[in-house]
Amino acid sequence: MRQHRVCVCVCVSPVTLCVCSCRDDDVLYISEEESCDDLQDDLRDPEKAQTHTDWLTLNVDWLTLNVGGRCFTTTRSTLVSKEPESMLAHMFREKDVWGNKRDPQGAYLIDRSPDYFEPILNYLRHGQLIINEGINPLGVLEEARFFGIEQLAEQLETLVKSSQPPDDHSPLTRKEFVRFLLATTTKSELRCQGLNFTGADLSRLDLRYINFKMANLRGANLTHANLSGANLERADLSMASLDGANLQGVKMLCTNAEGASLRSCNFEDPAGVKANLEGANLKGVDMEGSQMTGINLRVATLKNAKLKNCNLRGATLAGTDLENCDLSGCDLQEANLRGSNVKGAIFEEMLTPLHMSQSVR
Ligand SMILES: *[C@@H]1O[C@H](CO)[C@@H](O)[C@H](O)[C@H]1NC(C)=O
Ligand SMILES: *[C@@H]1O[C@H](CO)[C@@H](O)[C@H](O)[C@H]1NC(C)=O
Ligand SMILES: *[C@@H]1O[C@H](CO)[C@@H](O)[C@H](O)[C@H]1NC(C)=O
Repeated sequence: MRQHRVCVCVCVSPVTLCVCSCRDDDVLYISEEESCDDLQDDLRDPEKAQTHTDWLTLNVDWLTLNVGGRCFTTTRSTLVSKEPESMLAHMFREKDVWGNKRDPQGAYLIDRSPDYFEPILNYLRHGQLIINEGINPLGVLEEARFFGIEQLAEQLETLVKSSQPPDDHSPLTRKEFVRFLLATTTKSELRCQGLNFTGADLSRLDLRYINFKMANLRGANLTHANLSGANLERADLSMASLDGANLQGVKMLCTNAEGASLRSCNFEDPAGVKANLEGANLKGVDMEGSQMTGINLRVATLKNAKLKNCNLRGATLAGTDLENCDLSGCDLQEANLRGSNVKGAIFEEMLTPLHMSQSVR
């Protein structure tokens, strides 16, 4: 049966361009002959068209793939020529090897994920690897391997490696943490125990009641953060900046805050929950102007710390190491300094008389 072909020609001297199509094929002809109309007639008959060997014919053979329920229309040459050794190329190099594996519309059925197939098809079209947001590159890599597209698989492996964090111990960033915060309600207990926040900017954030036990917050910026009721036991806060932070009722048992800045912090919980800094390492901290009524600093180390103008009323400083600590201008009324080491400490300009117990050395 002779196939009926429709041809459209454009004659732009000295070149003639014709596109002829029948049911399965589009064929593009380019000729240097000028007699346009006769050729157009000839080309409508596929057998006569074959005699025109001077034509450059480019087979544009369209086909549709049904990949996991989504249809992709492309050309055979896209599937075959870019990666000739791939499985896809082998599947579609010869027409109809897949004969019966077609859906009712005639599309070739492929039981794979369309989301992961799409970037692969685009890569075969234009040679660029582009993965839209929300598509896991690992999934695309799996497909590239499945279809045997080696060069693309290599590119994807590099991409997957570079998109993974270097190791699980690298510190969290503000951006990552804020995303985490926004996904939780204030009531849910945030489990940040042992996480790494080294150098992170957590300033001004609402960090109330968060469990930061044993977390690494070295050098973190926690200025003006609300850490009310937070648990910072055994956390590393060394060299961190907590100026103006709210630390009401905070738990900082054995926390290491050496060299940290805690100026104008508020430790005083109106509800009466006392901030607990027992055994904390507060060597060299600057706590100037902080509100610390009733704070528990038992056996903490405050060597060389600056506690100028702090409110330490009723504070527990029993067994606290206050060597060379600057306590000038502090309110130490009712404070318990039993067994503390005040060698070289500065107490001048004290606002209220100091009720030191007998055992002060
Ligand atoms: C946390 O991150 C810092 C900085 O990258 C790194 O030095 C440290 O080893 C990490 N791990 C822990 C457990 O703190
Ligand atoms: C902490 O972050 C604030 C911005 O939120 C910035 O102004 C301040 O300089 C930072 N402080 C430190 C010690 O990095
Ligand atoms: C911090 O949290 C406490 C307890 O919920 C609240 O009373 C206080 O107003 C908060 N402070 C700031 C500065 O947001």
